[in-house]
Amino acid sequence: MEIVAAADSDERGLSLLKVVNVLQRVVVFVHSFTLEKLHKLGPSTSSAEMPTMREEDIAAKIKEICQELVLSQEALHEVCACLQEELNRGLAKESNPEATIKCFPTYVRELPNGKEKGRFLALDLGGTNFRVLLIELGDRCTMDSRIYAVPQPIMVGPGDGLFDHIAECLASFIKERDMGHELLPLGFTFSFPCKQEGLTKARLARWTKGFKCEGVEGRDVVDLLKQAIARRGDVKIKICAVLNDTTGTLMSCAWKNHNCRIGLIVGTGTNACYMEKLEKVELWDGDMEDPLQDHSHEEIKGVVINTEWGAFGDNGCLDFVRTEYDNIIDRESINPGRQLYEKMISGMYMGEIARQVLVRLVSEGLLFGGYASDILLEKGSFFTKYISEIESDKVGDYNNCRIILEELGFNDATDAECANVRYVCECVSRRAAHLAAAGVAVLLNRIREESVTVAVDGSVYRFHPHFHNLMVEQISQLLEPGIKFDLMLSEDGSGRGAALVAAVASRSASMSAHAR
Ligand code: BGC
Repeated sequence: MEIVAAADSDERGLSLLKVVNVLQRVVVFVHSFTLEKLHKLGPSTSSAEMPTMREEDIAAKIKEICQELVLSQEALHEVCACLQEELNRGLAKESNPEATIKCFPTYVRELPNGKEKGRFLALDLGGTNFRVLLIELGDRCTMDSRIYAVPQPIMVGPGDGLFDHIAECLASFIKERDMGHELLPLGFTFSFPCKQEGLTKARLARWTKGFKCEGVEGRDVVDLLKQAIARRGDVKIKICAVLNDTTGTLMSCAWKNHNCRIGLIVGTGTNACYMEKLEKVELWDGDMEDPLQDHSHEEIKGVVINTEWGAFGDNGCLDFVRTEYDNIIDRESINPGRQLYEKMISGMYMGEIARQVLVRLVSEGLLFGGYASDILLEKGSFFTKYISEIESDKVGDYNNCRIILEELGFNDATDAECANVRYVCECVSRRAAHLAAAGVAVLLNRIREESVTVAVDGSVYRFHPHFHNLMVEQISQLLEPGIKFDLMLSEDGSGRGAALVAAVASRSASMSAHAR
């Protein structure tokens, strides 16, 4: 037995050795394979020079190159001043047609009072996914939802194709739940710049965030949805409201928090809405009392303004803070010259900005010995979520960073290289957080209430480990004295918020009917 066991263990030892051997060969093979895939960049790259540069000198040089991504307090104050001016231009009737920030009145005149009840449907279109939700509002809010992908060809195909897809998802959601007999009020969260002509009428001004469906700009998206549903003929719906995700976010938070006046999204795109006094909205073409208000928030006699601040800078006023990386991102986007503030802040672009910087550092011989992998050279390969993951590593620990660098084709990055990659990520995300903070500070200074809650949602805000703190710190620097604020994660604005707008709309409608 013992001999057998010994032989066995010998054999095991041998096979273990063989496995180790094979593994080593695989490692060497993969390594040489990746080396083959590395490209020497730029004339200034000289591997002969590299060893002569000390790590500290490389880090210092990288800092110097990244300096243009670091915004001084002075620059941020200037950003605030420009934004303030652009908002005024957007709100005034005369300057609005030329203004870049359109400040669309949403026709949402009331915030929820927390007593809203009922069952609602909601549709949520605004990013790469489309969602259908069934929401029950009561003392609590319960939700049943399903996510459907929006395939890329649909995002840039004909408009009818997009609305047919939405109608198909909605129909299958209703059928799966056997709800064909119920005619529930529906809120449509459509997160693109729209000129609203009423609570249920919104003309798309222009596409953003990678969408470009022909035949939709200038049209009423509620109408297009109704037509698509009519083409199918198998479901009935009652659309009570169309809203932007920022409005949904504001409503969702305001349901229980009565200080909430601002809704902010920092996700695939960025935008903010806020409650503005009606007398400051020259564009308001509705009745001052229409829809009739219950005035339970006596202090709020206004309307929610969807600023569409993503377009800030489209007239060149942000050029003093834009960099060569921003220019490349813009030039290579499907909407050049547009959404320039959004392109410096939001998740659709942050990863790509970081990639541009990394490629430049490689090409100057400051990173990875001057060699770039095929993957790093590919547009879009550095996902925005990498920034959040890399910055989630504890300081001095590069676990996530190494995993990501391996995914990108760099198998043996040194600690110093990881630290430099992290520094680039920090510069990009800090700049985004500081620019978004400047926007929020301007709105808080405008609202001028003693204490205001800002409802926030979006993947960047949610998942970046420091975004919230960076914003809070920076807002405090830019705020006028005496104003208190807090940033609150708003749960499911596009769903619950849509239901609340629909609920508030039906309450206002029934009050108006009673008054007549
Ligand atoms: C759109 C806004 C939207 C924001 C966040 C922007 O691209 O123009 O309407 O609120 O993204 O989703």
